[in-house]
Amino acid sequence: MVTINEILDPIDVGTFFKEYWKKKHLVIRRNKFKNLFNFKLLDTYLNKYPHVRSLQILDYDDKDTRWCLDKHKKLKQPMLSKQEVYELWRKGKSFVIPFADYEHKPLVDICFELERYFSHGQCNIYASPKAGSKSFPPHKDGTENFLFHTEGRVKWTLYKDFDNKEILEEITLEAGDLLYIPIGMWHKVDAPGARMLISIHFANKKDQALDKFNISSLSENNRNKWYNWLPDVPKQKKKRPVRLMNKARWSKPYFNKKI
Ligand SMILES: [Fe+2]
Repeated sequence: MVTINEILDPIDVGTFFKEYWKKKHLVIRRNKFKNLFNFKLLDTYLNKYPHVRSLQILDYDDKDTRWCLDKHKKLKQPMLSKQEVYELWRKGKSFVIPFADYEHKPLVDICFELERYFSHGQCNIYASPKAGSKSFPPHKDGTENFLFHTEGRVKWTLYKDFDNKEILEEITLEAGDLLYIPIGMWHKVDAPGARMLISIHFANKKDQALDKFNISSLSENNRNKWYNWLPDVPKQKKKRPVRLMNKARWSKPYFNKKI
């Protein structure tokens, strides 16, 4: 399991909630959490298509429409073949995997830990195959967003006041960096190349306040547990390695001695 201190390192949890929570964005640049999800895992995920939990493709028709995998035909969207999905990726469309919490254990571990401090969370994976892939237009979210960068680079624009297009900060983040965006802050992303980032976002707990701060225990969480399905295979006795006489050994001066 991961702890909130490891997630926010080097910022301690008290400083985070007093100085940043609901107020200020926070950038933590470090080489961590690259294993949350990567292009290799995405390749495995997309090869399971259409038998995947969810998938969205941004601007799939070049008219800014977001395509959603619509298994229950509620959204009246066309069903794309696996080859069509593949061609859209190769063309440069950005993909979103919403509800990815259970796609990899490190993701659900972060949800469990942060849900001690926040309300129920959700994990979305955002991936772009090349430079110029379109992303979402500027927007704000009704959640506290933790953005873990795992592949490539992403240019972020954070707005102080979106109506007047007043920019607070423009920053390029890379794999291993974490960005926290407080609830309600306007933002947009641009991809200078292939990239992947994971958004793990949470609503605030009801009546959560600094002077009456509620931290719940892991056992209070009713989220589905991650079980370890690995069978208990008895450990085999280690065999003694066979010593091989390799070329390097034979060529040592000892063996070259003339007797
Ligand atoms: Fe957002």
